[in-house]
Amino acid sequence: MSGAEAAGIRCRPIIASAITIAATAILAVGFATTRSVAAGPEVVPSPQATEYLPSISDLMIATIQPRHELLWRAAQDGNWDFAAYELGNLHGAFGRIGRAHPTEHDISFPNMIASVTEQPFKELESAIRSKDSPAFDKAYADLTDACNSCHQALNHGVIEIRAPNRTSASDLNTNSASRN
Ligand code: HEC
Repeated sequence: MSGAEAAGIRCRPIIASAITIAATAILAVGFATTRSVAAGPEVVPSPQATEYLPSISDLMIATIQPRHELLWRAAQDGNWDFAAYELGNLHGAFGRIGRAHPTEHDISFPNMIASVTEQPFKELESAIRSKDSPAFDKAYADLTDACNSCHQALNHGVIEIRAPNRTSASDLNTNSASRN
């Protein structure tokens, strides 16, 4: 037996097993495909499962908090046009949250929003129109109190909102020491 023949004999079982593995893989893929097609209607997620429903806190952090901060910054910079713009958007965002979540703890959420924010919104609008910084600061503090009064009323007093300041643009007070 020549060296080449000996090598050929040794190679054959390896080639044969490689073909077997490949064939098994093709069959497995084919089987999986057939199965998924057959089971198609069952594996399609229901519209409820795919629909993302933002919670009140999702909307607070995405649509309310940044505008509350931007409103403050606009007024500090004396940019009254931008302040008016942010005030309008903040007002609109509260309206949309109320429509998205009509009730909270069995109480009308839009009514709850209106009862605490209506007055500060009016004061802010007039302060911005007359470019009156001290009036703005007072109305802004009233709006911030409105944020906190609702959080407290709904047992979420841990979310403490404040006016931002020059060293921190954030309106969230996470420093519990300063509460006492
Ligand atoms: C009428 C009620 C109401 C008013 C007014 C209100 N909030 Fe909220 N806020 C809530 C509720 C309810 C939650 C959600 C608490 C929860 O379920 O986790 C919340 C949560 C938050 C959170 C926490 C979100 C998170 O996931 O970390 C922030 C920040 C917040 N509010 C900011 C504000 C600011 C700023 C204002 C005022 C400009 C404001 N809220 C006014 C009811 C209110």
